[in-house]
Amino acid sequence: KPRIAVFASGSGSNFEAIAEAVRTGELDAEIPILLTDKPLAAVITRAERLGIPAAAVNPKAFPDKAAYEQTILARLRDEEIDWIILAGYMRLIGPTLLEAYPNRIVNIHPSLLPAFPGKDAVGQALNAGAETTGVTVHFVDEGMDTGPVILQREVPVVPGNRELTEAAIHEVEHVLYKEALQKLLAEEQTRV
Ligand code: GAR
Repeated sequence: KPRIAVFASGSGSNFEAIAEAVRTGELDAEIPILLTDKPLAAVITRAERLGIPAAAVNPKAFPDKAAYEQTILARLRDEEIDWIILAGYMRLIGPTLLEAYPNRIVNIHPSLLPAFPGKDAVGQALNAGAETTGVTVHFVDEGMDTGPVILQREVPVVPGNRELTEAAIHEVEHVLYKEALQKLLAEEQTRV
């Protein structure tokens, strides 16, 4: 079975949705590790509850991004990880991980990319007065939210209401990430 490492910096609701799909067999994969760059992130508690080992690697403990990512990479190799799945991991992936996992790093972003890349995509959509925003699952490249799109889905903006717009986005994210990963893993199985 493909072995997935999920990277998260925050609450981890997307991580939990993926873990749940693995548990029910909807996703034919294993999650040997949850990796976070935030030693106090709520996602760690979620991982404990789900019985998935969590590793916190604090980038502040390293001289640069390359050293930080080398430490992560050693851990990924120990765990024989095939895919890196970013789920609210709020950090640009550097060359060390990109070169080790070409076309095998996937991200979810709360907008219809290329609209509203970067931080606070929901706030950006609200401030722009957009009627519609959405969710994008895409391959990660060296840019900020720029790699090839795997799946996208629209979500209506609730004007002036961040809370309701975010809730609608999260609901779509939890379904769309599962579908995108099912698609990727199925494509990989049929590859000769
Ligand atoms: C999600 O909405 C995800 O799309 C976003 O962070 C949130 C994490 O929520 N990611 C980005 O903005 C990446 N640029 P979660 O911790 O509950 O999964």
